[in-house]
Amino acid sequence: MRAPLTEPFSIGSVEIANRVILAPLAGIGNWFVRTQARRHGAGMAVSEMVSSFALHYGNERTLEQILVIKPDEHPVSVQLFGYDPSVMESAARVVAEAGADIVDINMGCPVKKVCKTGAGAALLGDPDLAIELARAAQRGSGLPVTVKLRSGLRAGDHSGYELALALADCGAVAAIGFHPRPATVQHQGRPDYVLARRLAEQIEIPMVISGGLADGDSARRAYEESGADAVMIARGSFGNPWLFEELTGSRSQPPSRAEVLDELLWLIERAEQHFGMRAVGWLRKTYGWYAPALGLTRADTDRLNRLDDLEAVRALLAERPSVEASQPGCQHQPAPV
Ligand SMILES: Cc1cc2nc3c(=O)[nH]c(=O)nc-3n(C[C@H](O)[C@H](O)[C@H](O)COP(=O)(O)O)c2cc1C
Repeated sequence: MRAPLTEPFSIGSVEIANRVILAPLAGIGNWFVRTQARRHGAGMAVSEMVSSFALHYGNERTLEQILVIKPDEHPVSVQLFGYDPSVMESAARVVAEAGADIVDINMGCPVKKVCKTGAGAALLGDPDLAIELARAAQRGSGLPVTVKLRSGLRAGDHSGYELALALADCGAVAAIGFHPRPATVQHQGRPDYVLARRLAEQIEIPMVISGGLADGDSARRAYEESGADAVMIARGSFGNPWLFEELTGSRSQPPSRAEVLDELLWLIERAEQHFGMRAVGWLRKTYGWYAPALGLTRADTDRLNRLDDLEAVRALLAERPSVEASQPGCQHQPAPV
C-alpha cells in the first residue's frame, strides 16, 4: 500500500511533515516564495540554486540576499551548484551555519553558462566527480546531502539514472530528486516515469519525483506511476500555491478572486520588504501567473509590467473588476515558462 502524500517521511535525520515539496527554482525560490509554499502546506521547500563559489568567496549579495533563511522555514533545503569539491565543502559549511537542514546539489541544470564550467547537468558525464562533490558537501555541512538530477544528457542517454544508482549505492546521499527528462529538452516533453520507477525500486533512500507536475491530477499520477516517495512541485506552483493545499488534502475548491488578490498583495509586500526598489523588476515575472484567476487581460498584465512603482501596481489591481475565480476562463492555469 502506497503512503498517502499527507504521510510524513524522512531524508536522513530530517523529518518532513508530508510528501509535497517546493522544487528549486532559480531566480524565484527565495525565502518568501518558500514561505508561501509552506504557508499553503508544502512539507519542505528547496531554495533556488546558489553558487558554491559565491558562498566560498563570501560574495556579499549572495550571503545577504540569496542565502536568507527565516526561522519559520524549517525544514529547508539549500541547493548548491558547482564543480570543485573543496569549494563545495566550504560552501556547504556556510549553508549549515546559515541554518539549512539539508544541502542539495544541482546535477540537472541544462543552462550553458552552468554546464560549461562542469557544474549542473554536466556532472552526469563525470560520476566520480559527482560522488566526490556529494561527499564534500556532507563533510562540510554535517547535514544530509541530496542531489537533483536529470535522467541523462540527451534522449536515450541514462547517465543520470546510472549516477543516481551509484550515489545511492555508495551512501553519498540521503535522497535523490529525479527529473526524468534529458537535459537537452530543458523542461519540455513527457517525463519518463517508468525509468523513475525503476530507480525508486532499486534504491533504499527516498526518491522525489520532479517534472510534469502541473496540477493536482498530474502530480498524483506522477507519484503513482513513478513509485516515488514524494513529489516536487515546480511550475505548477506559479500563481497557484493552493496546489500544496489540494495535494495535502486541505482544499478541494479553487481559491476565490479575493483570495488570489490577497495572495498577490502578500507577495508584493514581501518582495518590497526583501528587494526594496528592485522588487518592481522581480515581480514582473509573477503577474502573468496570477492574471487568469484575477480576470486580468493581456493588456492589464502589460500595463502592470510597465509600471515602475508598487503603489501604482496596487492601485491598478484594486481597480480591476471583481470576477469570481470559479467562472469559466478564470481557473488556475500556470503560465507557460
Ligand atoms: C524558472 C525555473 C527555474 C528552475 N530552477 C532550478 C534550479 O535552480 N535548480 C534545479 O534543480 N531545477 C530548477 N528548475 C527545474 C525545476 O525544479 C523542475 O525540475 C522542472 O521545472 C520540472 O518540473 P515541472 O515540469 O513540474 O515544472 C527550474 C525550472 C524552472 C521552470
